[in-house]
Amino acid sequence: MRSIHINASTEYDVLIGEGLVDKCGELTKKVVKPCRCMIVSDDTVDELYGDRAQISFSYAGFETHRFAFPAGEASKTFSTLTDLLNAMGGAGLSRSDLVVALGGGVTGDMAGFAAAIYTRGIRFVQVPTTLLAAVDSSVGGKTAVDMPFGKNMAGAFHQPSLVVTDTDVLKDLSAEQLSNGAAEAIKCGVLNDPALFALLETGDWQDEIEAVVERCVTYKRDVVARDEFDTGERAFLNLGHTFGHAIEVCSKLTLLHGQAVGIGMLMAAACAGCPEAMLRRLSSCLKKNGLPTRCPYGAAELAKAALSDKKRAGGSITLVLPEAIGKCVLKKVPVADLPACFERAIAVTEAMDL
Ligand code: GLY
Repeated sequence: MRSIHINASTEYDVLIGEGLVDKCGELTKKVVKPCRCMIVSDDTVDELYGDRAQISFSYAGFETHRFAFPAGEASKTFSTLTDLLNAMGGAGLSRSDLVVALGGGVTGDMAGFAAAIYTRGIRFVQVPTTLLAAVDSSVGGKTAVDMPFGKNMAGAFHQPSLVVTDTDVLKDLSAEQLSNGAAEAIKCGVLNDPALFALLETGDWQDEIEAVVERCVTYKRDVVARDEFDTGERAFLNLGHTFGHAIEVCSKLTLLHGQAVGIGMLMAAACAGCPEAMLRRLSSCLKKNGLPTRCPYGAAELAKAALSDKKRAGGSITLVLPEAIGKCVLKKVPVADLPACFERAIAVTEAMDL
């Protein structure tokens, strides 16, 4: 089992290894005294792993309760959050009790936000069951729900007390879900880790999934330690997300987050004027990992969707622009320039047939 220590306002470990779903209660007991816990999952994950997680927590001495909601980003709303908070109240959870987020990014974000606001904040543990959650969203304490006017528009910073990633669970993911998470791992490679990118661009890294998760979490650990509350360097983790969020919005959530972020990274690189060789390398890496590369939406439509992006500060928006594999820069651009950025990115990717 690998262990990575996160040095944030709440310090905690990220544990990565085989068979950990059956040990998540026992591992949690080392950092949280047995108490009442609400295990939160979507209905798919609840059916696959809910019993095993519950048995593990019960065996470790926790009083267990379960809450399941319909799978999908469309559930990440205040309405589901209210149902969850009511279930926590109904189960009698107090300030000293615990939420367990067993699932992907939607579950982690929403269960984490419930933990952040229930009786002004209780502890929570992340048990990510998707690659995307394992390499990105389960670490760093960002919690949120979507609002009608934008993704993740209501939320809080609330660090978990522990993250337990079972790599056996990740190995059982569908090809689509692996691709979805691979996009965030490719993001880490483009931002900071040429060796990780080189591994991912082979498309043949699944046997090394533990190392992939470890490298991504280690990078995120360093960024979060320096900028937990996203006032500076953490903005780099938004590579591909300004373009990607706009694509997700235009797709009415029919594209998965990773698929949209993958296209978004390529658009950011095209917009930044990256050399053709690098654009081709990035495009090939996305394709090798089963990710789309072409944006099916027009520049005006994307720009409108991007304006609801919470990274917009006043009249400007901060873009993360790749310069090379392993090196990106932040660039503040006036909101008025966004349509031109999208147009340029679309024109370049089309002209090069990326
Ligand atoms: N997922 C981006 C961040 O945690 O800041």
